Amino acid sequence: MKELLEKLAQKRQEALLGGGVDRIEKEHKKGKLTARERVELLLDNNSFEELDMFKEHRSFDFGMEHQQVPGDGVITGYGTVNGRLVYLFAQDFTVFGGSLSETHAEKICKVMDLAMENGAPIIGLNDSGGARIQEGVNSLGGYADIFSEIRLPQGSYPRSVPSWAPCAGGAVYSPAITDFIMMVDNTSYMFVTGPNVVKTVTNEDVSSEELGGSMTHAKKSGVAHLTSYNDLDCIKKLRTLMSYLPQNHESKTPKLTYIPGDESRPKLDEIIPVSSQTPYDIKEVILEVCDTDSFFEIHEHYAENIVVGFARLAGRSIGIVANQPQDLAGVLDVNASKKAARFVRFCDCFNIPLLVFVDVPGFLPGTDQEWNAIITNGAKLLYAFSDATVPRVTVITRKAYGGAYDVMNSKHIKADLNFAWPCAEIAVMGAKGASEIIFKKEIAAADDPEAKLLEKEAEYQEKFANPYRAANRGFVDEVIAPSSTRRKLIRAFDMLENKKVSRPARKHGNIPL
Ligand code: HXC
Repeated sequence: MKELLEKLAQKRQEALLGGGVDRIEKEHKKGKLTARERVELLLDNNSFEELDMFKEHRSFDFGMEHQQVPGDGVITGYGTVNGRLVYLFAQDFTVFGGSLSETHAEKICKVMDLAMENGAPIIGLNDSGGARIQEGVNSLGGYADIFSEIRLPQGSYPRSVPSWAPCAGGAVYSPAITDFIMMVDNTSYMFVTGPNVVKTVTNEDVSSEELGGSMTHAKKSGVAHLTSYNDLDCIKKLRTLMSYLPQNHESKTPKLTYIPGDESRPKLDEIIPVSSQTPYDIKEVILEVCDTDSFFEIHEHYAENIVVGFARLAGRSIGIVANQPQDLAGVLDVNASKKAARFVRFCDCFNIPLLVFVDVPGFLPGTDQEWNAIITNGAKLLYAFSDATVPRVTVITRKAYGGAYDVMNSKHIKADLNFAWPCAEIAVMGAKGASEIIFKKEIAAADDPEAKLLEKEAEYQEKFANPYRAANRGFVDEVIAPSSTRRKLIRAFDMLENKKVSRPARKHGNIPL
């Protein structure tokens, strides 16, 4: 037995070394951690259990039969994050550039199966040069198996994928069908085809960073949900993200212990400016309403006119969607609608209640928006809210105009509770635009049309620039002092804790994609 144990220890040592010391050093010089270091840092101390440590590829071309590394370039297994079970795979760039072979794909599919059957999240730490070139169609087939494995249980358990590598081809599509993509500055790139192919096909000169770097995907394309300045920062953010999520679609995120105190927040009475044309930062409202330091923003740099993220309210994990008056006056446009719709869908999949702050002057008009299908994209948000069965609570802090009022979790699309602050303005459109249309003849006939317009604007403002008309009809459940918002919301979500909605049977909804 002693000899057998020694052999086992030696094989384990080989597997732990991956592609060897030189390659590990090369990765460190780039500022990257190795796959094993990432796994150790991500999981709780001593919790990792590895699977398929000795699995090797079955490739016999291009001299591959003489190049075997135990594990075949991917570490798979399970462990705990914040005490809760997760499954993971971590691609090891030191072994054949983390490239995906048939056996590498089999290992990934195996942990994904386990995650599905046991209802726990899967985390993929991507660091791969894509399909293993020496294996041809076998590696392409491996990617297809992964895609189909990810797609099958979509919405059953959370999937997040931080990506550290230059990912091309198959390596970008598997993250793309997960729930969250994280990228690290200067080392992560994602593109369907790299700069060389771009140059050949379109004659564009573009760097990897510009084409598919972290900021490109965080700001322009919206592909990346979170960015980090290095690997460690990424792992910390990933652990934080996981803390807001439940294990699967049938469970809820554990509530943190919370001792009730004075829930009044007087600062909220001071945030809204006197003039309704003056911007303010909705994040100040979010920070004041939610538990201290609990707001965790998603998609921070993309469509900044809407803010989405997770937070805690009296220890309960919630999802927040909020118009941002500080950016484009908080208007809803194509990107904001897509961003918010996706977030709402995620929260609804995973039983995370939704809190919505509304200060929206309407949908953004113009040819750019129309030609980029604001109709279809705005409808995504409308669909997402209307279809969501999690507890949904709205606070109208100021403007709620036009179609955007309906879309932003209004009572009409079955929000559970809608509050408005006394400064709320709920109407079809702003006073000036409305007066110009409905009093057009009267204004034109007046001796002083400008003065008449101002008079009519004031009349319209007086009638509609308040929350009481909506409250009269029950479209707003209560007009509340801003300072009491936190207290009201804690009670609202407590009251909605056991909400159950049954829907007519169907195969699946047809969201306007
Ligand atoms: C086999 C690979 C590999 C691959 C890298 N390596 N990519 N081996 N298959 N796909 C190996 C290299 O030969 C090298 O081995 C080691 O990994 C490290 O690679 P380097 O090139 O030295 O590293 P670096 O300079 O950092 O460049 C990284 C890289 C580059 C940008 C990822 O390696 C690269 O361009 N690789 C090919 C990317 C690609 O085109 N993949 C196929 C995508 S198509 P040695 O022994 O020298 O250390 C695809 C189809 C799926 O994925 C479609 C599904 C629908």
